[in-house]
Amino acid sequence: MKKSSKKRESSFDSFNPLENKTVILGVSGGIAAYKACDIASLLRRSGANVHAVLTPNAREFITPLSLTTITRNPAHCEQYGQSSNWRPEHIELAKSADLILIAPATADLIAKLATGICDDLLTTMVLASQAKVMIAPAMNPVMLQHPATQYNLSVLENRYRYDIIPSEYGEVACGDWGSGKMAAVETIITAVAARLLAHKTLATKRLIVTAGGTREPIDPVRFIGNRSSGKMGIAMADAAFARGAEVTLVSTVEVERAYPVVVVETAQEMQEAVESEFDLCDALVMTAAVADFRPMAVANHKIKKTDSDDLVLELTKNPDIIDLLGRVKRKDQVIIGFAAESEALLSNATQKLKRKNLDVIVGNDISVPEIGFGSDDNAVVILSAEGTRENLPRMPKRAIAEHLCDVLSERFQMLEKAPV
Ligand code: C5P
Repeated sequence: MKKSSKKRESSFDSFNPLENKTVILGVSGGIAAYKACDIASLLRRSGANVHAVLTPNAREFITPLSLTTITRNPAHCEQYGQSSNWRPEHIELAKSADLILIAPATADLIAKLATGICDDLLTTMVLASQAKVMIAPAMNPVMLQHPATQYNLSVLENRYRYDIIPSEYGEVACGDWGSGKMAAVETIITAVAARLLAHKTLATKRLIVTAGGTREPIDPVRFIGNRSSGKMGIAMADAAFARGAEVTLVSTVEVERAYPVVVVETAQEMQEAVESEFDLCDALVMTAAVADFRPMAVANHKIKKTDSDDLVLELTKNPDIIDLLGRVKRKDQVIIGFAAESEALLSNATQKLKRKNLDVIVGNDISVPEIGFGSDDNAVVILSAEGTRENLPRMPKRAIAEHLCDVLSERFQMLEKAPV
């Protein structure tokens, strides 16, 4: 009996599912701040490296010393404090985070995050980080239901793709009843672990992602190109790589990455690069804007001005890479295409989805100013071969890429369950 309980204890000790994960635990100033100690303790015992960041108001409820002792890392409080190295502390923390959990998140903190105000270490660090942010609101029920708080929460959830861990119904500290109690500590830990571990959902998957706009040469100095910046494709490759996928980026834009980047210029070069790896890949994400036509002949020398006012270029059709691969793809492969449309977005994207035998198409309306080509943001509609439709409102391309990774992992799960 004794032996087995000892064994259980030691196997519990060695179970560190969050090992190598750095979690920043942001604590803002509400009475639920006292529960931050339990959260920090459970996270640390699950193997995570935890750093607590307290707002000035949080220090009215809980001392930095408690969190320093529990996390075994110095708690951070001062926006202009001494950093352990040359980088400002908020940047150092922002870069180190795999995930930022803010528990409790007060109405004030939620409002600051929604508007980008950064007047203390915690808000500044969140703004400077690219890590996933999770928020556990805790406040008086009337404050939570206030349209301002509801609006701010919807901005965080829908625009910034933060995860909101809903607060619970019950008696809150001030004696009122309603929704506003911070979620139970176990609920918060489970949500954090699910998010951190779900992150590797593309592990073992091979992905080809294309990015940028192809350039079709006219002569040694001129080309036919398009306005694609490559930001969406690169964001997609980055997100998939971070989730454990083996990524090859085929791009017209040169970037330095930890995964292989094949730099191409023309549609034909892109076709060659994609086709050479297609057989081995589990998914192809064709984010690139591929020129539909190229000049029939490329002049060896710069074309000179002639006496004529006109220059006629003869164009020929480029291979439609995704269309060709859609015809030969195996049942276990997934192809995601993009459709940039200036009119009739839904019907054009739906037709392309079917015609090109795609699993998913991501449509965006390029007639909307300020989003799409070149911008950091986009608003897209995601259509699937099964007929589902999902609208993502304007958000950073980074967030769209994260969402598409979710779509991809769901499809892989679906394929694994499908009868052979
Ligand atoms: O037909 P359309 O060019 O709008 O289709 C867009 C989708 O097809 C994108 O995913 C794009 O990367 C892909 N495409 C392609 N080869 C082409 C043209 C587009 O793979 N020649």
